[in-house]
Amino acid sequence: MKVTMVMLSSVDGKTTQGNNKNVYVWSSKEDQKHFFSLIQKNNLIVMGRATYEASKPVIKLEKGKLRIVLTRSPNKYSNQSVKDQLEFSDESPNKLLKRLLALNYGNILLVGGSTTNGLFLKQNLVDKLYLTIEPKIFGSGKNLVDGQLLNTKLHLISVKKINKAGTLLLKYKIIR
Ligand SMILES: NC(=O)c1ccc[n+]([C@@H]2O[C@H](COP(=O)([O-])OP(=O)(O)OC[C@H]3O[C@@H](n4cnc5c(N)ncnc54)[C@H](OP(=O)(O)O)[C@@H]3O)[C@@H](O)[C@H]2O)c1
Repeated sequence: MKVTMVMLSSVDGKTTQGNNKNVYVWSSKEDQKHFFSLIQKNNLIVMGRATYEASKPVIKLEKGKLRIVLTRSPNKYSNQSVKDQLEFSDESPNKLLKRLLALNYGNILLVGGSTTNGLFLKQNLVDKLYLTIEPKIFGSGKNLVDGQLLNTKLHLISVKKINKAGTLLLKYKIIR
């Protein structure tokens, strides 16, 4: 089971514009197309609780697609869970992956945010990264990864310019 991380950032590496949680106000339509095609292709989607709250308006639950939200207080969200479609969990990434392996949903799409990315990278569990870089500078905001000291090495697989403004889509293999 492979884990693919997908993230969007500004040229200065910010994944939010300051405190604004809504990334759709600055992401290009080409990146949105890329992101939602990955959502469509993957039936196992993992995210942090803050990302879940920020993306609630665009999350469409569907049969056959399981979303797992990591939180230290899963009980607080139990009234929002939907069997086989939306789960809240306080498992460690390692433990979670072991459990998911048995469920046969296929690969995992890890959609952030920075805290959750850090937990997975720290345990060396990520195989691939899709990183979109929008030609913008924010100066302030969340990072690709927060809260961990890492020395993760990547190998660039491809780089594509996906629109006239120069939005770049980078694909990396993560050396494990
Ligand atoms: N540009 C992009 O591609 C992109 C992608 C995703 C998100 N974002 C943005 O990034 C922001 C969210 O990022 P974030 O770093 O604040 O949060 P996050 O990674 O989405 O979620 C953090 C939450 O994860 C839970 N958590 C932390 N450690 C845990 C552990 N050991 N076990 C279980 N759960 C744990 C905690 O939830 P509890 O507090 O409930 O315990 C914590 O508050 C949002 O504004 C979102 O819009 C941007």
